Amino acid sequence: MNIETSAIHNGIYKDTEYSSVSTPIYQTSTFSISELGEQKEFDYTRSGNPTRKALEENLAELENGYEAFSTSSGMSAITAVLSLLKTGDHLITSKEIYGGTYRLFSSIAPQFGIEVSFVDNLNDSEVLKKTIKSNTKMVWIETPSNPLLKIVDIKLVQKTVKEIDEKILLVSDNTFLSPYFQKPLDLGCDIVIHSTTKYINGHSDVIGGVVISKTQELSKKVQYYVNCMGLASAPFDSWLVLRGVKTLPLRMKAHEQNALKIANFLQNHELVEEVYYPGLQTHPQYDLIKKQMQGFGGMLSFKLNLEAEKMNEFFKSLKIFQAAVSLGGVESLIAQPWSMSHASMSEQDRLNAGVIPQLVRISAGVENSEDLINDLNQSLKSFCCCC
Ligand SMILES: Cc1ncc(COP(=O)(O)O)c(C=O)c1O
Repeated sequence: MNIETSAIHNGIYKDTEYSSVSTPIYQTSTFSISELGEQKEFDYTRSGNPTRKALEENLAELENGYEAFSTSSGMSAITAVLSLLKTGDHLITSKEIYGGTYRLFSSIAPQFGIEVSFVDNLNDSEVLKKTIKSNTKMVWIETPSNPLLKIVDIKLVQKTVKEIDEKILLVSDNTFLSPYFQKPLDLGCDIVIHSTTKYINGHSDVIGGVVISKTQELSKKVQYYVNCMGLASAPFDSWLVLRGVKTLPLRMKAHEQNALKIANFLQNHELVEEVYYPGLQTHPQYDLIKKQMQGFGGMLSFKLNLEAEKMNEFFKSLKIFQAAVSLGGVESLIAQPWSMSHASMSEQDRLNAGVIPQLVRISAGVENSEDLINDLNQSLKSFCCCC
């Protein structure tokens, strides 16, 4: 089945009583039994719920996984995966990962005796090989990176890691692209996670996450931790995400079209120093992008040739773009990573990572592209003499 069809039809038929086309919201904490000792598929919503199950079946299919577990946030999905590690284990990841993941790995993981190495570039196989130790149990990938849209070569990392030790788990955060544009499990990962808050739900009205594993064995472990630690998503939130995912393919196409048009506009604007978007042929990893991804996504960044003090004025004069953290919703959002998503990093770390005050990140929504470009244009106009 093609993704446009499976996103709509997967895992939604849970109403055996009335055959409703839309999955009912089983807004219940518990399920009664008719006889003592009776074993039912659902007995308590922390452990399982039909609405959540419908969403999980849908997402497992979209990522070509064995089973999915829908969680209360992207961070709880990451927590569930981190729980697969034990005291004394070693995790390798890149320095360019989502700030919340960085915080969890750098401050909480060590409290449980988990060692974490943050490498500059996972594509550097020599460095990666040298970083792998006998206690390395997991490699964490996030691609494209935030905010500079650098790409990790998933197949290369897989080959490098698995050649050394088959058992090292390869995990990929696929939030930025969604399964519509990239399928990490098909590229050799063992687990894929999402913040479903973003593209999968797509309407900026839910916080959610999902863990999808490739094998039955891994699924059992993830299920155990999600249940034990109480990480699962609530029935209503699960229902909203299930409603959202049905239009994922339509939305992703529209996000991409708008992002590409905005990137092209910005590239030709005299106040713009550099544009970072995987869909531009000038992206230094364009060949890898064409091989690994089925599309370019809706996220882009650019550097403005403006004094840092003027950045606030630029943001304030926008009328359609809303200044906000998060991404992947139908509405276009704009952010200054320096003062928003990356503010918890030290000034030097931000500068080292290329995050300067003039760097702007856009999550292109699905509005009319001309309206979006006109909005950017009118705001930029007040800063340039001849544009
Ligand atoms: C790539 C990525 N992963 C994980 C998360 C965490 O997700 P949540 O905010 O749903 O907990 C985010 C949030 O912005 C993200 O951008």
